[in-house]
Amino acid sequence: MASLLITNGTIINAADKIDADVLIENGRIVRIEKGIKATVDRTLDSTGKLLLPGGIDVHTHLDMPFGGTSSADDFYTGHVAAAFGGTTTHLDFSIQGAGEGLYPALERWHEKASGKAVIDYGFHMIVREMNDQVLADMDALAGQEGVPTFKFFMAYPGVFMVDDGLIFEAMLRARENGGLIMMHAENGGAIDTLVKLALAKGQTEPKYHALTRPPLAEGEATGRAIDLAHLAGAPLYIVHVTCFQALDRIRRARDAGWPVYGETCPQYLVRSYEDYERPDFEGAKFVMSPPLREKWHAIKLWQGLERNGLQVVSTDHCPFGFENPPQKQLGRNDFSKIPNGAPGIEDRMMVMWEHGVNSGRFDAHRFVELTSANPARLFNLWPRKGTIAVGSDADIVLWDTKKKTTLSAKTHHMNVDYNLFEGMTVTGGPSVVISRGEVLVENDTLMAKAGRGQFLKRPAGAPALA
Ligand code: URP
Ligand code: ZN
Ligand code: ZN
Repeated sequence: MASLLITNGTIINAADKIDADVLIENGRIVRIEKGIKATVDRTLDSTGKLLLPGGIDVHTHLDMPFGGTSSADDFYTGHVAAAFGGTTTHLDFSIQGAGEGLYPALERWHEKASGKAVIDYGFHMIVREMNDQVLADMDALAGQEGVPTFKFFMAYPGVFMVDDGLIFEAMLRARENGGLIMMHAENGGAIDTLVKLALAKGQTEPKYHALTRPPLAEGEATGRAIDLAHLAGAPLYIVHVTCFQALDRIRRARDAGWPVYGETCPQYLVRSYEDYERPDFEGAKFVMSPPLREKWHAIKLWQGLERNGLQVVSTDHCPFGFENPPQKQLGRNDFSKIPNGAPGIEDRMMVMWEHGVNSGRFDAHRFVELTSANPARLFNLWPRKGTIAVGSDADIVLWDTKKKTTLSAKTHHMNVDYNLFEGMTVTGGPSVVISRGEVLVENDTLMAKAGRGQFLKRPAGAPALA
């Protein structure tokens, strides 16, 4: 659609509220004023709804090989689900293969998205091996390929884990090439030992996944990563923060003025360790790393979001079927073989509105900041994405604050047979979802076609966020 006029808008950006109409031409916002008169292809009356910037989920794993299987959503089903939930942009992780440079992985992920993408997307690169070629590839990805963000794992020995020397080398390089290091911070060596001890005692049920990955293992690794980044003079982004011990280290670094950032995910805010104790192997649905924690950690994480100790809410969407297909059953007799990960790309905005805004923890502006504006600023998509402003992409969600949804695998669009938030009723959700001026979802119906989503080339450079 070439032109669209949204009338009677109440625009909620991170920093302002504007009552105005929004004129969109060729995918971009061209005017924001009251009473716009224009000849357009379509007019959409948004009376009674809020206009929010489209959600940006900076942590997803679509079509990702893991533990002998692959995550259940690909770039079509995952994008459709994202769109139904009000997310119009995401950043996914491509993974360096054994013995490879970074280019083959990047090409594989471009291939995975090609012809399927419905929303706009970009990539980070997971680096598992380092040499001169990989360092040169990091420069090229950051400088030319639009992929200036690199994830490292301090956990999963034998699969993803890298040592401190490699991490430090990458941080030094990121300082030079304007890249941002993202860290999965858990002490993989200590965890591996705890896992072996538990299995030797016959402790095989899903709850031992959590009991062998204690909060201190996350806190220690988070602190180590922060100190290494400080030593290297590089900014650092800690992914999926779950516990007080990690948050505390991030907060202390930020108080000292260090460029350290943290994200958490809805599951760490509204689910807890108790979910692992569900009968009939149901705890496996919640097996992810780091694991869900005791409830008091969530209170601290909410405070982190309220007081800016944490800046982003993403999903870590990485779904595996429980019974159909039986991917989680791979660990029926050994929790360490349960594929790590869970779904959430469709639910993030609704869960955060319900438990963040409706519950009075923060206002709609902070909601926008956490789910769209800060992700855009940190990952160099701003101001193209993350705001409703003249010149920005017209990624806009008409948000119905009265819409009630009961989250359920029976009705969701994610390609997985369970929902982390099954039975949770939320008030507030998207009624129309627009990406670059094109309606993706309206009246709970998908209006967009596979292949319309665009790859987002992001520049390198320091995150535009304090
Ligand atoms: O359990 C998780 N989080 N799976 C996805 C991979 C990761 O660590 O982010
Ligand atoms: Zn991770
Ligand atoms: Zn992840």
